[in-house]
Amino acid sequence: MKDDVKILAIESSCDETSAAVVVNGRKVLSNIIYSQIEIHTVYGGVVPEIASRKHVEKINQVIRAALEEAKCTLDDIDAVAVTYGPGLVGALLVGLGAAKAISYAKKLPLIGVHHIEGHIAANFIEYPELEPPFMCLVVSGGHTHLVRVKDYGSFDILGITRDDAAGEAFDKVARAIGLGYPGGPKLDKLAKEGNPDAIVFPKAKISDSEFDFSFSGLKSAVLNYINQAQMRGETIRTADVAASFQKAVTEVLTEHAVWAAKRFDMDKLALAGGVASNSALRAAMDQACKKENIHLYYPSPLLCTDNAAMIGAAGYYEYKKGIRHGWDLNAVPNLKLGE
Ligand code: KG4
Ligand code: ZN
Repeated sequence: MKDDVKILAIESSCDETSAAVVVNGRKVLSNIIYSQIEIHTVYGGVVPEIASRKHVEKINQVIRAALEEAKCTLDDIDAVAVTYGPGLVGALLVGLGAAKAISYAKKLPLIGVHHIEGHIAANFIEYPELEPPFMCLVVSGGHTHLVRVKDYGSFDILGITRDDAAGEAFDKVARAIGLGYPGGPKLDKLAKEGNPDAIVFPKAKISDSEFDFSFSGLKSAVLNYINQAQMRGETIRTADVAASFQKAVTEVLTEHAVWAAKRFDMDKLALAGGVASNSALRAAMDQACKKENIHLYYPSPLLCTDNAAMIGAAGYYEYKKGIRHGWDLNAVPNLKLGE
């Protein structure tokens, strides 16, 4: 194998069209992200058909821009990595089609990457010294996974959400208090002006699992609180609702993740996914990890949300293991981690 492996990575699983060039899984030469958020904001959430069409429109431009910024051409690329699941099938197919076309035309190895494996690998970019094993809490719009990263590309899923993902709960509560889409970052900002102890919302515990999560009860409790206050004609302090809801979510996430690290005797804990940019979650994790002597890792906000650099990072370790996919690689909307 060559000393340096340069991977062209493509991500199009939801509402970001992204391409990146990454060297040896850690060094990002470019990471171009075209976000469709503004388009979907009008509808209050991602519209799959619109997402696919926008990906088609943008994918080639984004790939070209990624190569240009990395100051290279397809001749300098050693492999193409692409997200093939989980995600919106129509959206995934656009990235997959582009990746297959390039790898076929240039005779380059094709590596299909699991989206969540990408989120976890974002930490490798940010922290060159980080190596498995470590515990990872993946919290995004579609996923809430507590994962034991045993080795590169080797995972045990210890806990998942039984209903809503953490980001989904943020988005729904944000909508209920009139913040619009995407609610997570807006709620995070508003919560800074509120009192997290103003309202006590329930923290769901799952009786038969110490690591699973559930957020739908909490979400309903917030919605009930708002409805009842409205019926009584009271003005709702939205900042207090935001701060109190955020406290309930971050406490559960922190307790489970830190307990998992301790239980498996791990002194490294990483955060990943869009919700990993949440300021209260980072603060709560910082504090809990310091107390338990656990080293905490979290990527910068740009690498927390969907981007192709993280797919390039994960793709490199798959490449090193000898993983190569054929032309029959298909989009798998509900792909499980480790499949
Ligand atoms: O990882 P991501 O970009 O997409 C998925 O793979 O789902 O995550 C997007 C999710 C959205 O639900 C968004 O509201 C949430 O991450 N998010 C946040 C914050 N930034 C993004 N949630 C809470 N606080 C934030 N600062
Ligand atoms: Zn994601």
